[in-house]
Amino acid sequence: MSSWNIVEISSFPDERGNIHIAEYDKDFDFNVKRIYYLTGMSEKTSRGGHAHVELNQFMLCLAGSFDIELNDGILKQKFRMKNDSKALCVGSLVWRDMTNFTADAVMLVLNDRVYSEDRVVRCYSTFEKLVYEKNV
Ligand code: TYD
Repeated sequence: MSSWNIVEISSFPDERGNIHIAEYDKDFDFNVKRIYYLTGMSEKTSRGGHAHVELNQFMLCLAGSFDIELNDGILKQKFRMKNDSKALCVGSLVWRDMTNFTADAVMLVLNDRVYSEDRVVRCYSTFEKLVYEKNV
């Protein structure tokens, strides 16, 4: 089973603009306990560089664009996130690196745990060890 998947959310454009809708049980399958959003990046910015031991996330690009590379220790995949109808569901133990932000980029992240419970791993060799232990 993949540690992440792309979700096509509903969008309704009309002459007044666009409404984009992500809904529990359809687009993501967890209760949201925390949201955060990232602003003020530039093309030189690198964010991420970590994984979470226990966390499910739903990631959206609300404006601009950026690259996100996901790595579960076996599979690596890079996505260009844009302000479109595509979102990313990302599970536990996925290393992520975000780069190449446009100056107007806004990333919104919904999370199923509060920050103190998600157990951030910022050391890549610790991440590799945890992936190994999970897969034996
Ligand atoms: P960091 O994890 O470095 O951000 P990124 O995911 O972009 O790499 O977080 C930056 C700071 O914000 C760090 O001091 C921890 C703090 N933080 C919280 O307090 N709560 C949160 O929910 C998050 C995501 C970060």
